Amino acid sequence: MRKISVIGIGAGNPDHITVQAIKALGQLDVVFVIDKGPEKDDLARLRRELCERYIAPRAYRMIEIPDPPRDRAPSRYEAAVEDWHERRSRLYEEAIASHLAESERGGLLVWGDPCLYDSTLRILDRILARGELAFEHEVIPGITSLQALTAAHRTTLNQIGGPVRITTGRRLREQGIGPAETVAVMLDGECAFNAVEGEDIEILWGAYVGGEKEILLSGPLAETAPEIESVRRDARDQHGWIMDAYLLRRRGEA
Ligand SMILES: C[S@@+](CC[C@H](N)C(=O)[O-])C[C@H]1O[C@@H](n2cnc3c(N)ncnc32)[C@H](O)[C@@H]1O
Repeated sequence: MRKISVIGIGAGNPDHITVQAIKALGQLDVVFVIDKGPEKDDLARLRRELCERYIAPRAYRMIEIPDPPRDRAPSRYEAAVEDWHERRSRLYEEAIASHLAESERGGLLVWGDPCLYDSTLRILDRILARGELAFEHEVIPGITSLQALTAAHRTTLNQIGGPVRITTGRRLREQGIGPAETVAVMLDGECAFNAVEGEDIEILWGAYVGGEKEILLSGPLAETAPEIESVRRDARDQHGWIMDAYLLRRRGEA
């Protein structure tokens, strides 16, 4: 039966790859590549470097799966995501069926870890549920962008015994921050931290964390927010894309 390894490759530093991931890469016949977003050149570079380091000189094939366009401002968000996942799953299914032989092993290389804000596993579940294509699959964990962020700031994710909420910029805007929690925010293209109020809140922000372009800023939210906004805008203009994440927490409780 076909085998698929979903491999977390870390959030931008090729040295973050685990030994388990290296072993899995070394067995691949086909690497499936999903090209999406303006950051794709940097993603492609990291992927190429990992394949050259850990698969070559063993022969492998690289197969590109196109990413269908997505409506970013739909009137019905859930329905739009459902439709997008369905179209993506059809394209994945087609690529696996046509390019991976029954006895072969394919790999899907996932930025960070597949468990965090990534749809690859849901898409594979959807293909299996349709029942038209059979394969075995395994998941190899990777270093998430949040681990890279906390390591870069030399801090912990949680306050002592405290809860952590991982959320998006959109939800942070709606829900704010509770009295004793840490909020880790990803997928925020709009600097939603500006909607959070509180003199005692600090922010630990990072862009391109773990990579060569890494930028880190931290401090009291009210003072640091304008600087982050301006640095963020300049970096995005310079590189054509940005990936950033941040922690918000009450000062003195780390
Ligand atoms: C689609 S999610 C993928 C997350 C990924 N699976 C993980 O484990 O980190 C993309 C979001 O992750 C965050 N992110 C990913 N890589 C990052 C990096 N190197 N530096 C800062 N944030 C990053 C950003 O918030 C970005 O909008």
